Amino acid sequence: MSDTLAPVRPGKLIIDGAAVDAASGRTFTTMNPATEEPITQVAEAGADDVDRAVRAARKAFDEGPWSRMKAIDRARVIWKLGDLVLAHADEIARLETLDNGKPILESRHVDIDMVARTFHYFAGWATKLSGDTTSINPAWATYTLREPIGVLGAIIPWNFPMIMVGWKAAPALAAGNTVVIKPAELTPLSALRIGELALEAGLPPGVLNIVSGKGSVAGEALVRHPMVDKISFTGSTAVGQHIMRTAADQVKKVTLELGGKSPNIVFADADLEAALRGVTMGIFYGKGEVCAAGSRALVERSIYDDFVAKLAERAKKLVPGDPLDMKTRLGSIVSQKQMESVLGYVEKGVAEGAQLVAGGQRQPVNGKGWFVQATVLAQVQNSMTVAQEEIFGPVLSVIPFDDVDDAVAKANDSPYGLASGVWTDDVKKAHRVSRALKAGTVWVNMYNFYDPGMPFGGTKQSGFGRDLGPDCLADVTQAKSVFLNLE
Ligand code: TAP
Repeated sequence: MSDTLAPVRPGKLIIDGAAVDAASGRTFTTMNPATEEPITQVAEAGADDVDRAVRAARKAFDEGPWSRMKAIDRARVIWKLGDLVLAHADEIARLETLDNGKPILESRHVDIDMVARTFHYFAGWATKLSGDTTSINPAWATYTLREPIGVLGAIIPWNFPMIMVGWKAAPALAAGNTVVIKPAELTPLSALRIGELALEAGLPPGVLNIVSGKGSVAGEALVRHPMVDKISFTGSTAVGQHIMRTAADQVKKVTLELGGKSPNIVFADADLEAALRGVTMGIFYGKGEVCAAGSRALVERSIYDDFVAKLAERAKKLVPGDPLDMKTRLGSIVSQKQMESVLGYVEKGVAEGAQLVAGGQRQPVNGKGWFVQATVLAQVQNSMTVAQEEIFGPVLSVIPFDDVDDAVAKANDSPYGLASGVWTDDVKKAHRVSRALKAGTVWVNMYNFYDPGMPFGGTKQSGFGRDLGPDCLADVTQAKSVFLNLE
């Protein structure tokens, strides 16, 4: 599978403008989930390395030049980093696919584009951040300054490693913050490579640091470090809750983008061919390891049986393949542990009364890898475990509903509120349902689309705060009120 390709260089930490080993010299092995073979060794940051990275970021923020640079100069560097990601697209996409198991089509033609656009979009914002002047008292001149927060720590998951670097770093840097990122232990390679490219783009030392290592060590050290002003976390609800509790000790700011159990609602009046494609792609894209995956298909009862049959047909055609093959549409689950968890949920679904109509099994490719078939469970009740808990794998639960009110009630009957989809040809219904859904994003007659110009984040236990869009700038800046006495 990967034997025709060049070996991958060992990964080094990016601290204070240099690619370095961990102070302890420790490394960990990053594995290819599709072959179960090691890819390379990666420096394992300890608390001392995190301390060095945070101090470098603190110095770069407090003493400049980054936070004191002209906004247009910051913009040029951030734009250039977007250009460099495009210039190294093949290399970064390959690292992502090797590390994560996702199809190269996705990493090369979707993720790379998103990362580059994110840097380019937020480069534009560097020169456009502004405060307000107010006229509240003729005796005063009053205005607000929109200032960077300081040192931002970002802790990111394994499902979209390079995209997460862009989402966390680009707006933070545009606003003049400095950043320390802790990538997931399973997928450190693309983040470390983008960290190197950031230096090439001209980011001054200490402005963007990348510390690969264990969540329980490097992640924990970042959250607890008193010189970190804010943590932006994307990952599981359990770790998000732990981070929030820990950050409370220092009243550290936190934003959390957590899991989801997003409903994809299909009304009988929809373009059903488009809905079928959208529902299939909504769950099986990224092997279902997508926080916004449309993992609950809510289908109007009058079309339910036919729609389920067609979904099953499509799922059966989506066979797992070599992630490095451009024709592959379903890659490997990220790890053995995650694969076992996904298969465990399928078993539980069947035990609770769901009907397995497609997939449900591990299916190695060339005799290896943590691949799981595209799986469809029918006759699911919204109260079942498979409809309430995030599976984070290619498993779709299909639930019938009777009318608009029933669809909305079932869609909202979830601890999560990240995303949702609505398929209908009735524009009034589309707007009414969009307003009634408790979710950070609603897609109508489309699913799983993102843009740097549109905010992304959750409600309820899916978290708070936003990545992307003008709204996320509020999460990487703070307002300062200035009162000047004119008398
Ligand atoms: P998490 O454990 O939440 O990992 C996310 C990030 O947090 C990783 O970088 C992880 O580092 C780090 N981390 C772990 N423990 C930490 C701690 N005590 N302090 C600070 N940072 C810590 O998620 P996971 O294990 O990768 O996946 C488990 C489940 O989370 C999945 O099945 C899925 O349901 C959910 N998940 C959701 C998302 C999104 S986008 N919402 C993304 C991934 C996973 P290590 O990798 O080194 O542990």
